Amino acid sequence: MIKDKLSQVLKEIFQNCNYEIEDITVTVSNRPDLCDYQCNDIFKLSKKLGKSPLKIGEEITNLKLDIIDQTFKKFEFVKPGFINMTLSDAFINENIKAINTLPKFGVQEGPQETYVIDYGGANVAKPLHVGHMRPAIVGESIKRIIKFMGHKVISDIHMGDYGLQIGQVIYGLKQEQIALEDININLLNRLYPLISAKCKEDEEVKEICATITKELQDGNPEYQKYWQKILEVSKADMKNLYDFLDVHFDLWYGESDAYAYLDAVQKMLEAKNLLVKSRGALVVEVQKEDDKKEVPPLLFQKSNGAYLYASTDLGTIYQRWQDFKPNHILYVVDNRQEMHLEQVFRVTDKLGLLKYQDLEFLGHGTVNGEDGKPYKTRNGDAPGLETLFAQTKEIFKSKKAENENMSDEDTNKIVNAILKFADLQNSREKDYIFDLNKFSDVTGKTGPYILYTYLRINKIIKELNLKEVNLNDIIYNDIDRDLRLKLLEVSHALESAFIERKPSYIADYLYNLAVCANSFYSHNHIMNLEDSEKQKNWIYILTLTNKIIEELLDLLAIKIPSKM
Ligand code: ARG
Repeated sequence: MIKDKLSQVLKEIFQNCNYEIEDITVTVSNRPDLCDYQCNDIFKLSKKLGKSPLKIGEEITNLKLDIIDQTFKKFEFVKPGFINMTLSDAFINENIKAINTLPKFGVQEGPQETYVIDYGGANVAKPLHVGHMRPAIVGESIKRIIKFMGHKVISDIHMGDYGLQIGQVIYGLKQEQIALEDININLLNRLYPLISAKCKEDEEVKEICATITKELQDGNPEYQKYWQKILEVSKADMKNLYDFLDVHFDLWYGESDAYAYLDAVQKMLEAKNLLVKSRGALVVEVQKEDDKKEVPPLLFQKSNGAYLYASTDLGTIYQRWQDFKPNHILYVVDNRQEMHLEQVFRVTDKLGLLKYQDLEFLGHGTVNGEDGKPYKTRNGDAPGLETLFAQTKEIFKSKKAENENMSDEDTNKIVNAILKFADLQNSREKDYIFDLNKFSDVTGKTGPYILYTYLRINKIIKELNLKEVNLNDIIYNDIDRDLRLKLLEVSHALESAFIERKPSYIADYLYNLAVCANSFYSHNHIMNLEDSEKQKNWIYILTLTNKIIEELLDLLAIKIPSKM
């Protein structure tokens, strides 16, 4: 919002010198000691006009215009071609008021569109572990951000519910002669690693498990019954864990649900002559001439008639297209699946279901240990989610005696804040190192730090309990300038997070805002300030700060505890 307003002002200034520039880019200054905002577009203009940047710079800074006085405290040209802008107090205040009163802090909303977002992607019958946290946390946040921007969003977990692991678990259940009604989550959590290890050692067992999986997909009634039960038990467990993380899906579809659409997809592929026989299998060629890397054909059906991961993804897109006619489908999936989705997107485009550019691969990195490899416990497994939540709780409680006495509800909120903020402050495509001790500190770039700041501010506001706090234009102080300027940036953070599908912009902003707020209230005696008008002003900006923190934390799916 502020950047747009400043671009508009600059445009007007340029026009006054008879210069037309279409798009003017204004950025937050990277030298806050020199100015608040800057613009480098004089270079562009100088090239176009064949006039020196210095000349243009002098012309615009020599202008006498009301709009310059109203907007800036300082409006300077700096060699070789920069415009440095320091905002006027009146402009800052006017915009702070706008942020406080406009819906959604004045972010720019486009026309409403429909999004399907595919995240979570957990596999039935395999225990959820630390690696499953990332797509859940990142996906949930992206979903909330897109909703906040006024769009319709449908979330789908897209469970892996028809793969080899089901055959393996059914094999295990039969080997141990376990009755259907005795199947429970602990049993599944024990069986899956056992049989999957066996398959690695024993070719024969591996074969049997593959056959069971194929027969299940072909409708074998006995296996179907087992499968139904496994699905029920596993889903209930997943729901519990996702509920704890406040991660919610509109649709609980799985790969198995795509089978009903595979015929339709196959017919479309045939009609467009896209299916090619390759060593008995049916594939779709997707390599393009200008590809820099090899993009292998998409494997649609194996020679034994079995469908694969890519076929079910195509079936699912067909289903989504039919049910919702979405403008966009987003995939929050591990970076390592980029090629798989690249193939799927290319085929989808060829089928005319959705355009390539409307299918977005939002890759995420892995959660690593100190050694830079996916995080594992000492005995070599990826820790289960339940264990991880318990560990986080323990570490937080060990930090301070008071933490021991916190209610369960508050502790769970803090556990969420610890894990989510640690994750979301990293750009989603990057890996990060899992360090619970660091994540749960109340100082540093952590969830607890943001929560603590919020609660501290809330306490000040409550204790002063001032009525009618309007932002008074007369009283203005350099002391709170940093905080005021930071408040102005809220819409940039939101817009960048939306455009790039990166919650890290919001996490970063929250941290910087909290730093400004902390420094502000620790250097100023708000509580016993003599000047009551000034006090009201300060409470106004602190109230707005907390309103923003609250809303933005919600976009990260972080809830605020009652105390800390
Ligand atoms: N279940 C998959 C896995 O564990 C992830 C699913 C991602 N989503 C998708 N539409 N392919 O690897």
